[in-house]
Amino acid sequence: MPYAKIIGSGGYLPPRIVSNDDLAADLASRHIETSDTWIRERTGIRQRHIADADMTTSQLATWAAQAALENAGIEAAEVDLIIVATSTPDFVFPSTACLVQANLNAPGGAAFDVQAVCSGFVYALATADAFIRAGRSKTALVIGAEVFSSILDWSDRGTCVLFGDGAGAVVLRASEEPGIIAAQLNADGRQMGILCAAGNVSHGKVVGDPFLRMDGQAVFKLAVTSLTKSAHDVCDQAGVSLDDVNWLVPHQANVRIINFLGRRLGIGDDRVVITVDQHANTSAASVPLAFDVARRDGRIKAGDTVLMQGVGGGFTWGSILVKI
Ligand code: ACO
Repeated sequence: MPYAKIIGSGGYLPPRIVSNDDLAADLASRHIETSDTWIRERTGIRQRHIADADMTTSQLATWAAQAALENAGIEAAEVDLIIVATSTPDFVFPSTACLVQANLNAPGGAAFDVQAVCSGFVYALATADAFIRAGRSKTALVIGAEVFSSILDWSDRGTCVLFGDGAGAVVLRASEEPGIIAAQLNADGRQMGILCAAGNVSHGKVVGDPFLRMDGQAVFKLAVTSLTKSAHDVCDQAGVSLDDVNWLVPHQANVRIINFLGRRLGIGDDRVVITVDQHANTSAASVPLAFDVARRDGRIKAGDTVLMQGVGGGFTWGSILVKI
């Protein structure tokens, strides 16, 4: 049975950078109080990239995909599977993956979206891994892409300071050499209320609440406990010790969650990739963006064992253990 090996990665961040001070000034003009100090101390976030109003998730996804294809040194025509993880698709349908496929001018293979919010990339990677292991795909593009700024309530300081926009992608190829060595996905739908955007378009109208709502403390607790167990489970599945993990690439929601998690797993700060300070929380894009940053700056190298972890609305979570 072939492995799914990562042969390329890429990312795209919208050029407009909004610092905490910029955001605080903007909110102050609408009589909403926040500060760089509050945001940094509670979350570790210093800035975020925000898409212009006419930028769509499929565009961000396409640019990240092109960067990943170039990094892998392959043509889009070789791709026979595209999976996009997103909670901010361009349309109700067609899927964002089909729009990306059209942009890449690579028709023919399967293309579909996965919706697991901030766990979306990990879910999509596990899905592509299963396709490759089953012989149903040889070359897959797996993308996490979001314009989360479009579903934020910019008058809710408890949520609007936390998120940013962006896209990250990897190219997977069937290989005899180990790539993804274990995957582990979970959900608990009973916890849907702690993080949701419970709106829809129906009969030509927005029904329900179109904005993201969150119980931050409940999310914090559940994220730490679920990711701790998931890390142990995926390592047990692969017969790998947490000591052998060279890099933890966790979902980038909040530096305090990441620090807690690292301490619980016995993984020191020097083995944890952090981009939340620069990118804020880009939901499904956060793990592939962080992975790409650390791969390109030379921290993640061939032969390394990398633990990727996602957690988010649903409630969903999961882990992927991958040999680079
Ligand atoms: N600026 C200033 N004050 C603020 C802000 C802000 N942006 N937001 C909230 N506050 C105030 C609150 O109004 C409250 O004031 P009060 O005491 O007068 O009522 C005070 O700060 C404390 O609010 P809490 O919500 O209790 O703050 P907490 O310490 O829990 O921090 C946070 C909030 C950062 C969201 C925290 O709960 C957290 O990290 N949760 C994890 C959730 C997360 O990271 N979610 C990201 C998306 S989910 C995911 O990706 C998995």
